[in-house]
Amino acid sequence: MAQRQEDWQRTHMADELPLLVGQEVILNGWVQRRRDHGGLIFVDLRDRSGLVQVVFSPDTAVCFTLAEKIRSEYVLAVKGYVCQRPAGTENPRLKTGFIELEAKDAWILNTAKTPPFYIEDNTTVDETVRLKYRHLDLRRPKLQQNLAIRHRLAQAVRNFLTRHGFLEVETPILTLSTPEGARDFLVPSRLNPGKFYALPQSPQLFKQLLMASGLERYFQLARCFRDEDLRADRQPEFTQIDLEMSFVTAQDVRVLVEEMMVTLAQEVLGRNIPAPFPTITYRDAIARYGSDKPDLRFGLPIVDAGGVFVDTNIRVFQQALKQNGCVRGLKAPGCAGFSRREIDELTEVVTQLGAKGLAWIALEQENKVRSPLAKVLTDQELADLVSLFAASEGDLLLLVAADEHTAAMALGQLRLYLGHKLDLIDENSMAFAWITQFPLFEWDDERGRYVAVHHPFTSPVEEDLEYLETDPAKVRAKAYDLVLNGVEIGGGSIRIHRREIQERVFEALGFSSTETEQKFGFLLAAFEYGTPPHGGIALGFDRLVMLFARTNSIRDVIAFPKTASGACLLTGAPGSAEPKQLAEVNLILPSDQGS
Ligand code: AMO
Repeated sequence: MAQRQEDWQRTHMADELPLLVGQEVILNGWVQRRRDHGGLIFVDLRDRSGLVQVVFSPDTAVCFTLAEKIRSEYVLAVKGYVCQRPAGTENPRLKTGFIELEAKDAWILNTAKTPPFYIEDNTTVDETVRLKYRHLDLRRPKLQQNLAIRHRLAQAVRNFLTRHGFLEVETPILTLSTPEGARDFLVPSRLNPGKFYALPQSPQLFKQLLMASGLERYFQLARCFRDEDLRADRQPEFTQIDLEMSFVTAQDVRVLVEEMMVTLAQEVLGRNIPAPFPTITYRDAIARYGSDKPDLRFGLPIVDAGGVFVDTNIRVFQQALKQNGCVRGLKAPGCAGFSRREIDELTEVVTQLGAKGLAWIALEQENKVRSPLAKVLTDQELADLVSLFAASEGDLLLLVAADEHTAAMALGQLRLYLGHKLDLIDENSMAFAWITQFPLFEWDDERGRYVAVHHPFTSPVEEDLEYLETDPAKVRAKAYDLVLNGVEIGGGSIRIHRREIQERVFEALGFSSTETEQKFGFLLAAFEYGTPPHGGIALGFDRLVMLFARTNSIRDVIAFPKTASGACLLTGAPGSAEPKQLAEVNLILPSDQGS
C-alpha cells in the first residue's frame, strides 16, 4: 500500500524525547550516520533540535530491511518507542544521550547521494566546497545555531526599538548614490536609457529625510551594498541596524545604544555587561592602541618614549625625533627570553606596516640587558625606560622610531600579535568602547583633496566651524564609533541640518555648487523646510552576530555569503546576461563593440 505523508507527520522533535520515555512518537529528520553492530542497526537521526539515536532490530523485519538501505543524509520518518539506553551505553555528550528510539516502522522520505563532505561541526573541508554546497553546509548544527542567534538578535532589536518609540520604515534599494566611501553597485534602467540606479551603501539620506518628515524615531534592519575589497568582516551586501532620532544630542544616541547592547546581551546570551561603556578619543585610541578600533580585552598600551631620547646618541632615534617623528614602544611582559627567531617574527610584524625596524631590549637580570642597542644605550636611558614602562626583570621592551602614523599602525599590530601570542585575550569578555572626537576630514593623497572621515552629512563641532575654510584638518566631528573586541561594530553622528553648513562642508570636500545641487539638491531643499536637529547610528548587524556567536568570520553568520571575489559559489552569481537583456537596458559590452 502506498505510504501517505499524513501518516508520517512528526509528533515531536529529537530534543523533546528525554521527557517521553515509554511513549510512542514519530520523528522526521536526516540520517547523520548509520552503524551496524551486534546484529542491530544504529542510526543517528538529526533534526533542527539535535541528534537522537534510533535502533533497528531484526525483530521488526520489514523495518530492518529498510534500515539496511539507509545512507547518510537520507530523509527519514521513524515511528517507535522512547526507551532508556541500557546501562553503560549512555552518551553524556549528547542531550538525548540517555535515551534512544526503538524503531517500530520507518519510511524513507527521500534518498541522498553521498554528500561531498561529511556534515558535522569541526569539518576540515575547504570553505569553497562548503560554499558551493551551502545548503548542505547549513545542515551543520553550528551554522544553524548561528542563524538562530541572528534571528534572536533581530527579534530583540525590533522589540527593544519598538518599546522605545521607533518606527520600522523600509527605504528604497533602487536609488541614487549614497556616499559612504565605497564604490556603488549600479543597475541600468530600462525605462530611462543611459541612466542607472545605485544600490544604497546605506539608507543615510533617506533616514535624514524621514527626520525632515517628522518621523522622529526611525529604524530598519537595512540591507546595504558596497563594492569594496572584501575581508573576513566585510561582505558586498550586509545588514545594518540603522536608526535615526530627532532632537537629540550625541549622548542621547549613545545612551540608547548602550541600553540596547545591554538588553541584547541579556536576552540573547543571558549575560550582564556593564554600562556605560568607556569612551576614548580618536587621538588617544591611536596613541595608546595604534588603532581607532582598539581591542580592549587586554592591556599592553603603547608608550611614548620620545622623552627618554631627547639627547640620545642612538642615530635612528635621533633622526626620527628630529624629523617630527616619534619613538614609541610596548612592554612584552616576561618575554626577555624570546629567541632570535621570535624577535625576528615581531620585527616582521612592524616592518610589514612600514616601520624600518624594531629595537628591542631584553631585561634579562637586574643591570644585565641583551639588546642590539646595549653598547649605545646609556645607563640613564635604560633607567628612564624601565621606569617609564614600569618594567621589571624578565620583560622585553620593543621600540619603533618612525613618523607618528607608521609608529601607531606598526605598534598597534604588534600589540595585537603579542596579545594573541601571549594569550592575554580573555575570549569570554565583551569589551565595548566608544571612540569619539574624530576629525571631520582627512587628506586623501590619491584624490588630492580632503575626504570625509565618516560621511559628508556629519556635523562639525560648533567651536570648530570657523576652521572649515581655513584649516579643515582641525575641524572635529560630532561622530562616534562603537567598538567591540577590536571590531568596529557601529558608526554614527549628529548630522548637519542647516543648508548653509552643509554647503560649506561640500565646498571643503571640493564639490562644485553645480555638483552639490545635482547630487544632493533634494537634501539641501529639505533642510530649507524645517528639518529638525537629528542624529543616529548604524550598527553592522552581521558583525554583531559574528561576535555574539563567537566566530571569526562574517560568512559564518550569513546564510548565503559571497567569497572574497564577490562570487556566490552556490548559484554562480554574478552571471552573464543575454544579448537581448543587454540591449533592453542599452548596454554594449566592450567585446560586442564593432561586431
Ligand atoms: P558605516 O559606514 O560606519 O556608517 O557603517 C556602519 C557599520 O556597518 C558595518 N559595515 C559592514 N559590515 C559588513 N560588511 C561591510 N562591507 C560593511 N561596511 C560597514 C560596520 C560599520 O560600523 N550611514 C552611516 C551610519 C550613520 O552615520 O548613521 C554608515 O553606514 O560595522
